[in-house]
Amino acid sequence: MSGFFYGCAMRTVWWEPGAVCLIDQTKLPHTRETVRCTTVAETATAITNMIVRGAPAIGITAAYGMVIAAEAAAASDSVDLIGELAAAKTTLDAARPTAVNLRWATDRMLALAHALHERTPTAELIERLLSEAHAIRDEDEAMCYAIGEWGAQLLPEGANVLTHCNAGGLATAGYGTALAPIKTAHTQGKQVHVFVDETRPFLQGARLTTWELQDAGIPQTLITDSMAGYFMRQGSIDCIIVGADRIVANGDVANKIGTYSLAVLAQAHNIPFYVAAPTSTIDLSMASGDDIPIEQRDPREVMYLGGQLLAPEGVQAAHPAFDVTPHTLIKAIITEHGIIEPPFETNIRQIMQQPASSDEPSAAPAGS
Ligand code: MRU
Repeated sequence: MSGFFYGCAMRTVWWEPGAVCLIDQTKLPHTRETVRCTTVAETATAITNMIVRGAPAIGITAAYGMVIAAEAAAASDSVDLIGELAAAKTTLDAARPTAVNLRWATDRMLALAHALHERTPTAELIERLLSEAHAIRDEDEAMCYAIGEWGAQLLPEGANVLTHCNAGGLATAGYGTALAPIKTAHTQGKQVHVFVDETRPFLQGARLTTWELQDAGIPQTLITDSMAGYFMRQGSIDCIIVGADRIVANGDVANKIGTYSLAVLAQAHNIPFYVAAPTSTIDLSMASGDDIPIEQRDPREVMYLGGQLLAPEGVQAAHPAFDVTPHTLIKAIITEHGIIEPPFETNIRQIMQQPASSDEPSAAPAGS
């Protein structure tokens, strides 16, 4: 399987000559439409408007956006290719502020251009940038499968797992992060059942995670976000797995709004709370979650549902799109290199130094 998830011959992000193509995630699951972005501005707008969403997927999209920028600079005979790429990076990075994968990908693209441009003809440089964007996509998919292998070890037979938002194949190059351990455990023949938070206000859980799990044949129950505590108190949930948009040096995690409330509830009910993410989501430049910029989206996304105004005209609403879960509430972080346990400060740094060749799921988890 390369870039396709179970049964669905569909990718989240793909390249066609001169364009980055996206499955429009605002229309799923009932309408399947493709959006073609042929300029940096269109690519940035698609990210802002959540045509594509999920931390790794927006990083991959931005990497292809940098290729579009290089092609545009070449077509206009620009003498300052690096300047044009730096400007494109600024535009793409500003599209959404919380997920570090976006900046991580544009940094990597710009660094390659810097390294090559003085001794490489422009046409060849564009080819190298395109190969780099493909590599970012392929590496992401491989990391997701490795996360699946590591994380499946944490799921007992008959596990009831709660997840929030969509950290599946749609949010990545394929397969997913939080959904990867669930999919791998299912493939291994374990009985797994998933409680899917609907994830107000954008409904990534209700629209996207349910669709992916259904496609994979994994049993699930859709719940509203406010039902999570009820099911935890009933003893119906064995563990929680969520994705991440940014994990900082002390292990604090930014993820979809509502994640923090789940972690607090999990602690109250003594339920293990896991975060699954590739190391491209780890940002060692920030010491604590207090430093993470939280995207504030249009409050109308809270006031309207399916184009229908829910609240009285003129009401005030707020829409922080992410929150920060303190590391003290997290049992372990599942990465492609292994499972990180507390103390996160030390063990995150240790795993970031690990060579990719040591990614054997049989190895001992960091910190154990
Ligand atoms: O606003 P979104 O839909 O981009 O938020 C997505 C999440 O919060 C995911 O959990 C996170 O990006 C990880 S995706 C593998």
